[in-house]
Amino acid sequence: MKSFILGLFCLFALGNCYAMAEDEVIYHVVTTVSENPANAVTVNYHCSNKDSYVLYTKAKDIAFRKAVRVEPVSVLWSTRGIEKTAKETTFYTRQRYVCSAEISGLEKNTKYIYKIVSEGVESKVNSFVTAGKKSKWNFVAFTDFQHKGNKETLPLIKSMKEVAHPALVICSGDMVDVAGKEEGWNWLLDNDIFRDFVYAASPGDHEYWADDSGRKYPQYDKAHTFNHLFKFPGNGAPMSLNTTYWFRYNNVLFISLDMNNSNVATGPRFEDQVRWFEKTVESLKGTFQYLVVYEHKSIYGSSKIDAVVAARLRPQWAPVFKKCGVDLVLSGHDHIYSRTREIDGTYYLDMGSSGDKRRALDDSVVEGDGIHEKVLDLKGDALCCGSNIEITRHLMKVTVYNQRKEVVDSFTIKAKRKSSPRENRGEQPFHPSTFVGAGAGINF
Ligand SMILES: [Fe+2]
Repeated sequence: MKSFILGLFCLFALGNCYAMAEDEVIYHVVTTVSENPANAVTVNYHCSNKDSYVLYTKAKDIAFRKAVRVEPVSVLWSTRGIEKTAKETTFYTRQRYVCSAEISGLEKNTKYIYKIVSEGVESKVNSFVTAGKKSKWNFVAFTDFQHKGNKETLPLIKSMKEVAHPALVICSGDMVDVAGKEEGWNWLLDNDIFRDFVYAASPGDHEYWADDSGRKYPQYDKAHTFNHLFKFPGNGAPMSLNTTYWFRYNNVLFISLDMNNSNVATGPRFEDQVRWFEKTVESLKGTFQYLVVYEHKSIYGSSKIDAVVAARLRPQWAPVFKKCGVDLVLSGHDHIYSRTREIDGTYYLDMGSSGDKRRALDDSVVEGDGIHEKVLDLKGDALCCGSNIEITRHLMKVTVYNQRKEVVDSFTIKAKRKSSPRENRGEQPFHPSTFVGAGAGINF
């Protein structure tokens, strides 16, 4: 009897412990980029409680004695009621508060720490460093993490952090295999790998995958789960807010594009993005030195894997990138590594895979074919890639690593613009309220 009661007590205590675990109450914590990363970031998280807040302070204040409290904007949400959604996922069964808190008024080039508090439960401590370096700086780029639980992605991210110590990390889409299923996001976001950098991502077609229950290509009309995990600057194309946006990080203007779901490669949302893209770059002229685009589908990648990319997206976007003087386009999608020569002023880097989904080379992507300067056999050599991009006043140097921290490709891009005193280095806060879409809310 005694042991039975003791057992009951232990079960009760364990149950309570489990219920109180911070990752059950506060989860999917990600720091995302703001329009001005020298003085602001956005903290995103999901919370099972209505009340929660963020406490942040400078990194040296490890006891949070001088911490500042920020209340999030929160929305009660699940995927219930969204067309084509996967019903067996916790996104459907577990309603939660989707929270985002903008932390502003930060000092440039400074390390901060923060934690989230909700009804007596505290998250682990996260950290980030603001932009604002005057001299050489760098960021890390990935693509197509994709398969939940694959043994390559998380060690690759860890390796790239050890190699490059990035304050900013970018991914050009397909972060998970089925965006409508929460288990993929649990795998990617709820671990210590994602706790110490500012993140920016564009959606891949798999960010539109609603379920995989046997129907052919069941796609969301909008990237619903992406939009409820990451709040990006609200300055994007009117028909693709939050999946398209721009931010200026030191002397680079970054633009995220949304190449839509697996069934769509033309239509009004693309035309809307072209108009917005050209207008945005023109409006920001003189405030940046380099222009980096990240988007999912590689317009100079394989034309066999997803034939509409070369057939439809290339003729639409290549002239726009030329006209706007894009220096580098980061992408993925076909799971083949290819890097082009300079084409009309632009380099196209299709990293193929930052996980274990790899495809065999095909004859539309051949090293030395006049378009591609470097091709890697990801499948044959079991490789996955991450890039470290170092930026100076004179050039951008791209170094691509495999999962063993070995350099597998590198190239340099010479600056085509002079540096400008109006660049975003934190000295002059920039208020772009006159631009298209600025200040608009996310259209979930
Ligand atoms: Fe894809």
